[in-house]
Amino acid sequence: MTPSKRDLVSIADLSAAELTGLVDRAETLRALQAAGEVHTPLRGKSLAMIFEKASTRTRVSFDVGMYQLGGQALMLPSGETQIGRGEPIGDTAAVLSRYVDGIMIRTFAHATIEALAAHASVPVINGLTDWLHPCQVLADLQTCQQNFGAAALPGMTVAWIGDGNNMAHSWINAARVLGFNLRLACPEGYDPDPALVAAAGDRVTVLRDAKAAAEGAHVVTTDVWASMGQEAEQARRVLAFADFQVDDAVMAQADGDSIFLHCLPAHRGEEVSASVIDGPRSRILDEAENRLHAQKAVLEWTIGRRPLSA
Ligand code: CP
Ligand code: NVA
Repeated sequence: MTPSKRDLVSIADLSAAELTGLVDRAETLRALQAAGEVHTPLRGKSLAMIFEKASTRTRVSFDVGMYQLGGQALMLPSGETQIGRGEPIGDTAAVLSRYVDGIMIRTFAHATIEALAAHASVPVINGLTDWLHPCQVLADLQTCQQNFGAAALPGMTVAWIGDGNNMAHSWINAARVLGFNLRLACPEGYDPDPALVAAAGDRVTVLRDAKAAAEGAHVVTTDVWASMGQEAEQARRVLAFADFQVDDAVMAQADGDSIFLHCLPAHRGEEVSASVIDGPRSRILDEAENRLHAQKAVLEWTIGRRPLSA
């Protein structure tokens, strides 16, 4: 293990300066790309992308991001590698470290990425686990910054409506690091991890009422009711989450300049009404685009070892 390598496993591992530095850098990279500038600091570098679950945005944004930065990405669906036949994750980490300059993984158990990071001598990036989705929340914070300005982020109130899942956990970690207020409205039995909530202090609260959580919020966000791997629970969850749809009535409680975010994929008519996700406050396409810019900032920082202040 290389002690000085930079992983991105959890937003909670970042300082406030690192987190804001990544968001700022993502915005700069967006501007560079919009200006048509070619920026290839990762020439000759390779990123292995291990996927144990489906993906559209994560897969494409990391692949295109590596290409734009001058490197290449290797798509490794786990079922087409020896991981799918039970090769130990530690051996996979050590072997891939002899070939590539970074590893991105989307997996189920969070312990898998922790083992990968412990055994890899190259940076490891979390492309989603059952526990966390840090790259998505980086892009979400970038979207907030585009709408409200960088100085406003620590003072904003974010309302999370729905499941206390991997996305909720990464929002909780972001609130803890940056200091903004986060109100989660979750049905009983679907709360986020209480230890994560407690670690975030008073700025994070868990409620049972979607409208109360949305009151005065600058950002209203949600996610699917059944995440990848929970498909068998879909029918039960539709019943449990029936009062937790982000609809016009919920958005009416939020600040007049509030925005709606969703990591996608979405189910219109379940966690969000079509009127909200396709309405004027929705920023879902900017949010999805920002995955590319945020990913590039992470790749520069981890694989490229670029200082965030530069
Ligand atoms: N939001 C997100 O991570 O999308 P994908 O599952 O398509 O990668
Ligand atoms: N919570 C969702 C996020 C998908 C990007 C899932 O884990 O399936």
